[in-house]
Amino acid sequence: MINLGGMMKHISVIGSCNMDLVVEVDRRPMPGETVLGNKMVLSPGGKGANQAVAAARLGAKVYMIGCVGNDAYGQMLKKAMEDSNVNTDYVYVLDNVHTGTAHITVSNGENTIIVIKGANSEVSQKHIEEAWETISTSDIVLLQHEISKETIDYVIKRCYEENIPVLLNPAPYMDVPEEWIKKVKYITPNEHEAALMFKGYTRNEILTSNNGKVIMTAGKEGVFYGENNSIINISGFDVKAVDTTGAGDTFNGAFAVARSEGKNMKESIRFANAAAALSVTKFGAQSGMPYRKDVEELLKCKK
Ligand code: RIB
Repeated sequence: MINLGGMMKHISVIGSCNMDLVVEVDRRPMPGETVLGNKMVLSPGGKGANQAVAAARLGAKVYMIGCVGNDAYGQMLKKAMEDSNVNTDYVYVLDNVHTGTAHITVSNGENTIIVIKGANSEVSQKHIEEAWETISTSDIVLLQHEISKETIDYVIKRCYEENIPVLLNPAPYMDVPEEWIKKVKYITPNEHEAALMFKGYTRNEILTSNNGKVIMTAGKEGVFYGENNSIINISGFDVKAVDTTGAGDTFNGAFAVARSEGKNMKESIRFANAAAALSVTKFGAQSGMPYRKDVEELLKCKK
């Protein structure tokens, strides 16, 4: 366990656990075409579990709240989280439903993903209530879009009533009710998700009207947010990408750690950008996720 001199923050992640079935291929097939791939790897994933692992490796005390099936994938996912010091007491193992899977193709470092939600669809108000004591004492709660809309809605309202900060990562995209935007502390769309969420508004309008709340990731352009009616851009780190799967999740987990430790917005985004950059240098969502010392080293040498 990393000793942060009493700074260790408490983060709850309510979300998905998926087994990623990752195929690497030189070129994706066209409709109706068959191509030969290079390799297939089973790799722990799911946006929720990924964010939990990212935050735990960076030094937070992390609780995962989610569901897996009573099958080999479920066991492997729980073990992967535990190996990174994520508490899985609230990862429920359910009968009669399979663990969520993600079917991923990686080609030239870029991915395409199809998610089958399986047990992730079963995360319910009942599970939230069972874990409420843990959730309600969190420094921050992380949510994504791979569990049911009803459960996300319940968590956002419940946390808002009790003044618990929520970071919503609106991926994969689905309609985001205005009430959610009002009630969460941070929302972290990429530029495509932001364009869908705020139809008809420019990037500047979105960011200035949601000062410090909307944190927009824009790939090579870095990250944008609004502060005092101007737009702040924090650039990313240049690395050779082997697999970008999980980079967004690493960003979210790292940002939550940094912010809850009291770093300001700029420092937190730089910290998260560094963590995300390191995460893409290895194959698989969780395998490249860095530890605290790796991020600090990168930040030191790229001052
Ligand atoms: O964000 C990456 C994740 O999205 C993958 O690990 C996959 O499981 C999908 O949920």
